[in-house]
Amino acid sequence: MSASELRILENSEELAREAADFILWTGEQAITSAGTFRLALSGGSTPKALYALLAGPGCATRLDWRRVAVFFGDERCVPPDHADSNFRMANETLIKPLKIPQDRIFRMHGEDEPDQAARRYEESLRKEFGAPAPAWPRFDLILLGLGDDGHTASLFPDTPALSEQKRLVVQNQAPQGAKQRLTFTVPLINQAQTVVFLVSGKSKAPALKAVLEDRTADSRKFPAKLIQPEKGRLIWFLDHAAAAELTVEKQRVVTHEE
Ligand code: 6PG
Repeated sequence: MSASELRILENSEELAREAADFILWTGEQAITSAGTFRLALSGGSTPKALYALLAGPGCATRLDWRRVAVFFGDERCVPPDHADSNFRMANETLIKPLKIPQDRIFRMHGEDEPDQAARRYEESLRKEFGAPAPAWPRFDLILLGLGDDGHTASLFPDTPALSEQKRLVVQNQAPQGAKQRLTFTVPLINQAQTVVFLVSGKSKAPALKAVLEDRTADSRKFPAKLIQPEKGRLIWFLDHAAAAELTVEKQRVVTHEE
């Protein structure tokens, strides 16, 4: 299990830029070595600026997006055109602008019965990765956010999904908003080659301190603590506002991999 890497940026704009840079670099490496880049996107609002940047003139041509397979780490159980849909947000900010081919987009069917949708998505992962049970698909990069309550994906505090150790995708409940959810499980996320958290804003500072620095904080109360890639990298892209309560020294930003 590798240690967490922290990259603390001045503000949300620089945060999006550095995260975009890293994702493009990771994608280039994956495509060079394996001919494809398997990327799982996060929902919520934080990644909107990142997705718009990736689809923008400065980034769009830096990656062969025809070789990128786009997945979703979680979804709200709503139709794909619903305002709460994570797919809808990514489709509008990234997928449509980049004209990513539909057969490279693996959408969680939030409109279907949740347990069936979770099982079907699991099947689609196993097929796309060529990873029949009990193998674990290994994503090149899984992008995650952090809720004010310490949740990530749709792994919310004290919910049944936190204990799932066999399945790749399960249904779960959120405490507010679109309650019914679909989510990657902890063991699936922990198999990834690289996990990137993108966290911005002062509302996240208390949860971030609990997750990163409070050894007494219970992982059932702060589920993001459960994300510990077994063989992969864990990198936290933070802005100063989110990192405000961390004691760690502000590390120099590394803009490209060594
Ligand atoms: C979701 C996300 C969720 C999100 C956090 C942070 O479906 O909402 O997957 O895990 O990343 O709740 O959300 P914000 O970026 O909106 O703060």
